Amino acid sequence: MAVGVFDSGLGGLTVYDACARRLPDVPFCYFGDNAHAPYGVRDADDIFNLTCAGVERLWDEGCDLVILACNTASAAALRRMQESWIPEGKRVLGVFVPMIEALTERKWGDNSPPREVAVKHVALFATPATVASRAFQRELAFRAIGVDVEAQPCGGLVDAIEDGDEILAEALVKSHVEALKRRMPRPEAAILGCTHYPFMQNIFQQALGADVSVYSQANLVAESLADYLTRHPEFEGPGRESKFLTTGDPASVSSHATQFLRHSIRFDPA
Ligand code: DGL
Repeated sequence: MAVGVFDSGLGGLTVYDACARRLPDVPFCYFGDNAHAPYGVRDADDIFNLTCAGVERLWDEGCDLVILACNTASAAALRRMQESWIPEGKRVLGVFVPMIEALTERKWGDNSPPREVAVKHVALFATPATVASRAFQRELAFRAIGVDVEAQPCGGLVDAIEDGDEILAEALVKSHVEALKRRMPRPEAAILGCTHYPFMQNIFQQALGADVSVYSQANLVAESLADYLTRHPEFEGPGRESKFLTTGDPASVSSHATQFLRHSIRFDPA
């Protein structure tokens, strides 16, 4: 048994990498649905069906605990999965809440009423489906009041990153930041609400300016997973080796993954 990490493609590797560094003794099984990426331009039913299929594949690998390392799936499918689909004994956790808890300075499981927090103007960069779901604003409203969120759907950016086209990805980041700044000239914090975007974190930071705090999820999710496994050690299980599965072409996905993480990663067919 390993901890499952699900993503529509390569972006979740940022989360996997942080989790593997934080928990070096825990084996992980990564599932990238590269054949169907990007999810961010799909409708909610489509995202739900694809996410369930990927999570079931991870259950077949013995991963009773699966992290949805994909904001789009977390935003568009997780609530429906938790309400109607996940069987007894299995857990599926999303990536939104750890980030919102960090932004609102809350500890895990602090369910006290929403309160005023230090940041008032937050820029959210995410896929079109995540922005359309308004899941970020909904989760934030449970925890904070008086925070103005301006969301920028970053069309095209996931494709450019999946294709390894850094020049296009950089140009897209700059134009999406400019578009956001026309509506919110002085954000105090920016959320990279898509697991692909940390690959471009420096470009986001440069375009936003040094005084904007850029929140990216990987380390926050890793910390939250470590905390979860301390409280639920039954989900850690035995085993040593991590495994990487893709619905796409394993050779090309392995080569892009190796380029992103700067160490060798071998994907097998899912
Ligand atoms: N990386 C995923 C996310 O965090 C989804 C990207 C996509 O497939 O559009 O939103």
